[in-house]
Amino acid sequence: MKLAVAGKGGVGKTTLTVLLGEYLTRCGQEVWLVDADTALCLGPALGLSPEAVPTPLIANSELIRQRVGGDGMISLNPQVHDLPEKLRARAGNMNLLVMGSVAGAGGGCACAANALVKSLLGHLVEERGQWVIVDLEAGVEHLGRGTVQYVDGLVVVSEPSLRGLTTAAQISGLARDLGLTRQALVLNRANGDCALPEVAGLPPLTATLPRLPSLEARQIFSASALDLAERGQIDPACRAILGALADGKAIPEP
Ligand SMILES: Nc1ncnc2c1ncn2[C@@H]1O[C@H](COP(=O)(O)OP(=O)(O)O)[C@@H](O)[C@H]1O
Ligand SMILES: [Mg+2]
Repeated sequence: MKLAVAGKGGVGKTTLTVLLGEYLTRCGQEVWLVDADTALCLGPALGLSPEAVPTPLIANSELIRQRVGGDGMISLNPQVHDLPEKLRARAGNMNLLVMGSVAGAGGGCACAANALVKSLLGHLVEERGQWVIVDLEAGVEHLGRGTVQYVDGLVVVSEPSLRGLTTAAQISGLARDLGLTRQALVLNRANGDCALPEVAGLPPLTATLPRLPSLEARQIFSASALDLAERGQIDPACRAILGALADGKAIPEP
């Protein structure tokens, strides 16, 4: 199962990607987390030091030239089957792939880097017990066919703010237009009883994640979002999100 996590900047996409990955790993599932944001925050959020975070695929010009070619002679079906194992970093029991922004991939841009990213995303296919979660670039502009065509479901994250929800609705509409209809809205840093304003086009509200004091307390000295104290609130939210997007697939329990 492949999911992507989208939303306005700073709403908690990277944090939620880590929480979902950690939940699934604790359930014994094989998890691949993909950083598709230019800000490259997923490695640190998985507790990795800067040296342990791999170079983003889109910046690996030697590999791109080797696999895709250049100077007008590019292969749109580059060989990628060996790349996940080669390029991954291990973060605990999770696998991290750092791609960089996949903006424009599939949207008519046929540049070599995007061709490689697209093929690799397409290759990370569902196998028994394998989950792929893509942490997307903030906002709406970066959501293209290349991003959504390989995922089964979209997690749209927002804070309880009109601006966050407006961006969430725009992202949702664009993804729907591109054929990705399985979507779940997650309200982050919100109370369960928070009333939503009337914003047309939001995906169904699936889960609410409260303010996490243990994350706030540590983030001045650590970027890691792993192993938070509020597991009792995080686990039900993860289960609700995965349940809403899994389309009948049984959601594992830790
Ligand atoms: N529920 C939460 N409670 C407290 N802090 C949070 C929560 N969710 C996210 N944060 C913090 O907010 C900041 C932005 O979160 P992040 O996941 O990086 O957002 P995004 O990936 O959408 O830009 C980070 O410092 C993160 O630790
Ligand atoms: Mg992020």
